[in-house]
Amino acid sequence: MQKVIVLDFGGQYNQLIARRVRECHVYCEVKPYTTPIEQLKAMEPIGIIFTGGPGSVYEADAPHYTKEIFGLGVPILGICYGCQLMADALGGQVTPAQADSAREYGKTETWYETDCRLFRGLPEKGVSWMSHGDYMAKVPDGFRLVAHSAACPNVAIADEARGFYGVQFHPEVNHTENGSAMLHNFLYEVCGAVGDWTMGDYCKTAIASIREKVGDGRVLLALSGGVDSSVAAALLAEAVGRQLTCVFVDHGLMRKNEGDEVEAAFKKWDINFVRMNEEERFLTALAGVTEPERKRKIIGEQFIRVFEKVGKQIGQVDYLAQGTIYPDVIESGSGKAGAAVIKSHHNVGGLPDYVDFKEIIEPLRMLFKDEVRQLGRELGLPDYLVTRQPFPGPGLGIRIIGEVTREKCDILREADAIFREEIANAGWDTRISQYFAVLTNCRSVGVMGDGRTYDYTCALRAVATDDFMTADWVRIPYEVLDRVSVRIVNEVKGINRIAYDITSKPPATVEWE
Ligand code: XMP
Repeated sequence: MQKVIVLDFGGQYNQLIARRVRECHVYCEVKPYTTPIEQLKAMEPIGIIFTGGPGSVYEADAPHYTKEIFGLGVPILGICYGCQLMADALGGQVTPAQADSAREYGKTETWYETDCRLFRGLPEKGVSWMSHGDYMAKVPDGFRLVAHSAACPNVAIADEARGFYGVQFHPEVNHTENGSAMLHNFLYEVCGAVGDWTMGDYCKTAIASIREKVGDGRVLLALSGGVDSSVAAALLAEAVGRQLTCVFVDHGLMRKNEGDEVEAAFKKWDINFVRMNEEERFLTALAGVTEPERKRKIIGEQFIRVFEKVGKQIGQVDYLAQGTIYPDVIESGSGKAGAAVIKSHHNVGGLPDYVDFKEIIEPLRMLFKDEVRQLGRELGLPDYLVTRQPFPGPGLGIRIIGEVTREKCDILREADAIFREEIANAGWDTRISQYFAVLTNCRSVGVMGDGRTYDYTCALRAVATDDFMTADWVRIPYEVLDRVSVRIVNEVKGINRIAYDITSKPPATVEWE
């Protein structure tokens, strides 16, 4: 399978670049700029994309890459910082832009030379999305200018003989007209892509490689009933059949009736299915703990301890499998150079240091959410399972702010069930990517009947997103919100106030912890 490498210099749109490339049916991986060149060579990429980044190439501590990369004979597309890096490395000159000349932010009218392979077949004029304060004062030898804007003569550069291209704007964001087509051109016109990344192929390859790795060993899969672990279960079942045991840990942090629903759904499958009721263990471990990362780590650790226990019951278990997906990897800080740990998604950063299994298998580790759903369909999973909204491994544990207690879990379960029911009744369930209730740690004064109440505030969260890396809050009609509010306050003891979360991600995250 052909591969493209997205070399990450710390820009904010890097995952989008990877998604856009995959949407063109070309497999790609994001690698930090600290990845040694030998490793890149070994991947035999058909093309490399340098991402944007917050640095300026002329600063002493700016991220750089060995110039050897330009000698690999592999086409390179530099985006924003990546473009300046290429120009600088190949003998051009990059300087700070003057305010009145070439510093550009936002939508910018741009003219393209359509005889350049990058822009072939596209309109000569269009809006591009810029975000740069530096300027290529000197274009390197061998390059020509292939796009300009009113303020900037050198918006894009090309050395077509060597297959090197640089653009100051961001083709990966939707604001750039025909941006995806430009990336498509780079892949197909320049790199010689054949489009061999399809879910059908991926599915076959993944099954074959799981079989090869597992041999006649035994696998335990952590199954939560969510989309990711259900797809992982179907994939592993296809690959190793009865060598797989799916373990559903009911940690007492599930939504209303969820434990029984998951059990009922998977009992029908032709797999080994084990349910572990471990509420006591989790609540005891969480008692008195309020700090979100501590809570996540504790839940992650207890999960593993339960799997180890099941492993011992079954006998020899070699592999632990999880439905970790690409955004989990990235947001837990392990996919990106110098990226901050936003939160330890329990199935990545939340794992304890010592795990009593030979290896952890994560067959979805390189897939985005929508790709996981496609794979699920490929494997014949029913639509209701594939389109389910995600539910995080730590469950209500990260939706109860502050200490987690059984009483709070029960309160939240009721409120969340009402919210979900009303959203479904209103026909909004298919229009919202994820929606749930949060039990804040805030108590406030209310009045009910003739009495004073001093109860919790419940927050409602509903977001729309493709990839869960960025998200917008959903404009649910007031009438629906009103029904939810009235019902929760009337029906759920312990809650006397409802707030609706109207922040997007970023700056907020989807979950509150
Ligand atoms: P955040 O809160 O990071 O959430 O914006 C993005 C998506 O990831 C889900 N999420 C998790 N999923 N284990 C999971 O399996 C976790 O620890 C975890 N934390 C967040 C969250 O529900 C949303 O869909």
